Amino acid sequence: MNKKILIFGAGSIGNHMTNANLILKNQVSVTDIDRKNLTRMKNKIFPSRYGKWNNSIKLIDYKKVFKTGEFDLIIIGTPPKTHLGLVKKLHKNNIRYKKLLIEKPLNSYIENNLFIKKLNKNNIFIGYNHSISSSISYFINEIKKEKKNLKNIFINWKEGFEGILKAHKWLKNEFSSYLGYSRDGGGAIQEHSHALHLALVLLNELGISKYKTKFYKQYIDNNHKLYDNLALVFFSSNKLNLKLDIDLITFPAEKNIIVKSNNKKIVWVHNFKKNYDAVKVVSKNGKEKIKLFKKTRSSEFENEMKYILSLKTKKNYQNSRLNISNGIKVMEIIKKFFNDKKNSL
Ligand SMILES: NC(=O)c1ccc[n+]([C@@H]2O[C@H](COP(=O)([O-])OP(=O)(O)OC[C@H]3O[C@@H](n4cnc5c(N)ncnc54)[C@H](O)[C@@H]3O)[C@@H](O)[C@H]2O)c1
Repeated sequence: MNKKILIFGAGSIGNHMTNANLILKNQVSVTDIDRKNLTRMKNKIFPSRYGKWNNSIKLIDYKKVFKTGEFDLIIIGTPPKTHLGLVKKLHKNNIRYKKLLIEKPLNSYIENNLFIKKLNKNNIFIGYNHSISSSISYFINEIKKEKKNLKNIFINWKEGFEGILKAHKWLKNEFSSYLGYSRDGGGAIQEHSHALHLALVLLNELGISKYKTKFYKQYIDNNHKLYDNLALVFFSSNKLNLKLDIDLITFPAEKNIIVKSNNKKIVWVHNFKKNYDAVKVVSKNGKEKIKLFKKTRSSEFENEMKYILSLKTKKNYQNSRLNISNGIKVMEIIKKFFNDKKNSL
């Protein structure tokens, strides 16, 4: 592809995105506010994940990065509460980009994201990679066939820190990063906001724009409210009900979507077996049709990169599921979730 990519953040996602872009033959530059973390990327994270360091990766000093030209894509892969500040800095310093990808969630729920709303840029995307996977697209087509008969949707996105920390071997525990602090953009509903984004994508695809929401949350500690480890969200409309069950408890992880209609049960399963997602369609008489989708952790991000880099027109940008407007909607629901005083089922 030979596109120029700049990545902010040499942590977990920064390494994934570097690898994905190298596979796509793009030129990758990476910067980090902490110089030690660039060294950690070179000596530890990247070689341990992908075999060995690749000398074509440019590691750029943070102080110098705001003087570097124009990029096809800039990726903000830093903790949630630093995202908005970085966008402001890019604009202030006039760093030019064709597209900007901000990792999920857009920001932390206590911040005001009005400025980015006002920016109103169609070339800004949020990293909800699952929402554009081929298995999800196939799943959506299957559900649309049942559009008139749908009753309930259940989205389960449950993964505890035992699993998450295996992919972040350099962290002592969840409190060594933003992950263990809801105020910083961690906690169940923000860390697992892929689930909320998928809910909004499904409702939109089914033409449901009017719904009521109800919430239930549980913190690991009631005094300090460090982080929410259980988040239930209900969407109800006159057509169907959607229930989201999110946690930072379950191990091994369980991520799936179950759609029930009068005639069928349609199920999407993340990591159905090693390196495969699956879509199952079960008819009333118990007959089951299953389709497997091969993927790896690396290919999930390669697909996301290919997808974003290939969007050409303004219309493509606007219609993209990853467009910033959906990322803002996710944050609006998250804000409501934390502000909800009733918090009852
Ligand atoms: N889409 C996905 O599946 C996926 C997977 C992992 C992480 N993420 C998201 O990516 C973001 C980062 O998560 P992570 O796990 O990589 O975090 P991390 O803690 O592993 O790495 C973040 C890095 O950013 C650096 N940093 C902090 N502030 C900075 C700044 N202002 N400028 C430049 N660098 C800065 C830190 O020094 C650190 O090296 C989060 O929003 C997270 O939700 C998404």
